[in-house]
Amino acid sequence: MKQLNYSKLAKHYDILEGRSEKSNLRVNHLLKKILIKNKCKKILDFSCGTGAQAGFLRDNGFIITAIDKNKEMLKIAKKKHKRVNFHLGDMRTSFFGKYDAVITIFNSISHLSKKEFRTSLRNISKNLKKDGLYLFDIFNINFLKRNPPGKRISIAKQIGNEAYVVFSNYHLNTKTNIYSICEKRFIQKGKEGIKASIENWEQSTYSIEDIKNILADGGFTILEALDSKGKPFNKTKSLMMLIIARKTNSSQDI
Ligand SMILES: C[S@@+](CC[C@H](N)C(=O)[O-])C[C@H]1O[C@@H](n2cnc3c(N)ncnc32)[C@H](O)[C@@H]1O
Repeated sequence: MKQLNYSKLAKHYDILEGRSEKSNLRVNHLLKKILIKNKCKKILDFSCGTGAQAGFLRDNGFIITAIDKNKEMLKIAKKKHKRVNFHLGDMRTSFFGKYDAVITIFNSISHLSKKEFRTSLRNISKNLKKDGLYLFDIFNINFLKRNPPGKRISIAKQIGNEAYVVFSNYHLNTKTNIYSICEKRFIQKGKEGIKASIENWEQSTYSIEDIKNILADGGFTILEALDSKGKPFNKTKSLMMLIIARKTNSSQDI
């Protein structure tokens, strides 16, 4: 799968690719509610990016370890959230101890192939205590099939003296369920020349049935499937599925 270049993007991630502050806050409050309800205190964020979830959870009393495989994303995260423990690592292979819950939020597993997702699940299981939770969100293929996004201006923003415009072209391969994205990015600081760049990458998408099967094979059971607003997941109407899964098979611990 063609990967998004997070090293190049990191500096502008929060503006260009991250969720808006309002959506981050909504998702974070939802995560907090789920974690408290399930008595989870010690959390491993396995794809922290610039720290959108890790910072909030640390500030709200959780014990949080935050991991990302991209050094540049971690550099930004460390500057923004001084009280969080950030480490370089990979959700497919790294071991950081035993946690009440592992989270990989904002479509992070879309960067993995299906095979790598299965590998990651085995590793996530190793990082979880008995009966631990795995929380993640991912694009719903059935929504994308019904609502093909095509071409659009996905960002047009002015922040201080910096202007950002992004043209996006999305294509869904319905045989492989791979979603291809082409972005043309334009950034201008004050009256300086415009910096233009083109990025192409691919993301995996799943149906809820695929997710159920993959989780079951990895020794997890779905407790709840929600949309990104915390309402029950709807197969045709929800773009995202937020999955709350419990580790039910502890064979990974042996
Ligand atoms: C879409 S961003 C989400 C970041 C953050 N959770 C947020 O909500 O803004 C996906 C992140 O996953 C990281 N990532 C991708 N594959 C990874 C892997 N195998 N292990 C750890 N991090 C990974 C990327 O470097 C990137 O920072």
